[in-house]
Amino acid sequence: MTAPSSASPPGDAPTGASPAIAIEHLEVRRGGQQVLQDISLTVPRGSITGLLGPSGCGKTTLMRSIVGTQVVEKGSVRVLGDEAGSAGLRRRIGYVTQAPSIYDDLTVTDNVAYFGALYGSSRTDIDDAIAAVGLGARAGHRGNQLSGGQRTRVSLACALVANPELLVLDEPTVGLDPVLRADLWEQFHALAKQGRTLRVSSHVMDEAEHCDELLLMREGRLLAQLSPGELRSDTGESSLENAFLALIRKEEAR
Ligand SMILES: Nc1ncnc2c1ncn2[C@@H]1O[C@H](COP(=O)(O)OP(=O)(O)OP(=O)(O)O)[C@@H](O)[C@H]1O
Ligand SMILES: [Mg+2]
Repeated sequence: MTAPSSASPPGDAPTGASPAIAIEHLEVRRGGQQVLQDISLTVPRGSITGLLGPSGCGKTTLMRSIVGTQVVEKGSVRVLGDEAGSAGLRRRIGYVTQAPSIYDDLTVTDNVAYFGALYGSSRTDIDDAIAAVGLGARAGHRGNQLSGGQRTRVSLACALVANPELLVLDEPTVGLDPVLRADLWEQFHALAKQGRTLRVSSHVMDEAEHCDELLLMREGRLLAQLSPGELRSDTGESSLENAFLALIRKEEAR
């Protein structure tokens, strides 16, 4: 699996540019319930940040706030130097939702070409995006002829085709076999190397190993922002799963 070749992100950040994501005192309510509480964080460009935490802790809500599809109660969310949700950001961010939807009656190529048309992508961009997610051999298959994991990868190709500077991926590896998961992580690293920023959520702690930095969430709060190595040394645990649990216990004891 290779990264798309037309690789450099369109608005490649000059040194000293604003961070990829800067959030200050973010509060979000959904269904009358406070689901994000006083979240502040900064994510540098060209890195892979893992957003981890148990089901229902607010990962998707935080991602929606970053891509600008979430109504925010308080606080500020700036992405690539602009206010989240501003029109200019649309083509600079690729978002793959947790339940990816693709057109069942279109082929893989036509699904990706449909998104590509919105962004003026070339045929080469489309073919590169499909190759990047390892679906070259299925390019002519319709959506309803694909497995769950293959559908997820088509969604990822739809996000990649616009050559975005920031990729926000909500649990992109759920339901994939270990080989495919490893392939996708390789692809994510290749994209980060090109200067793109990736924001990947997961509730599987072993995926944390692949990230430069981790955002650990619980019940709508940010517990910690640190690297996998720091998480291990802070807690004295060698397994990241145990380290996360130790961190939660430490918080509870406080
Ligand atoms: N449409 C909605 N209306 C009201 N409340 C919602 C809605 N969507 C999510 N919530 C609530 O917001 C909280 C955070 O949900 P969110 O989807 O952000 O969690 P998550 O960490 O992504 O979970 P998962 O790992 O299961 O995807 C949950 O308590 C959930 O009940
Ligand atoms: Mg979610």
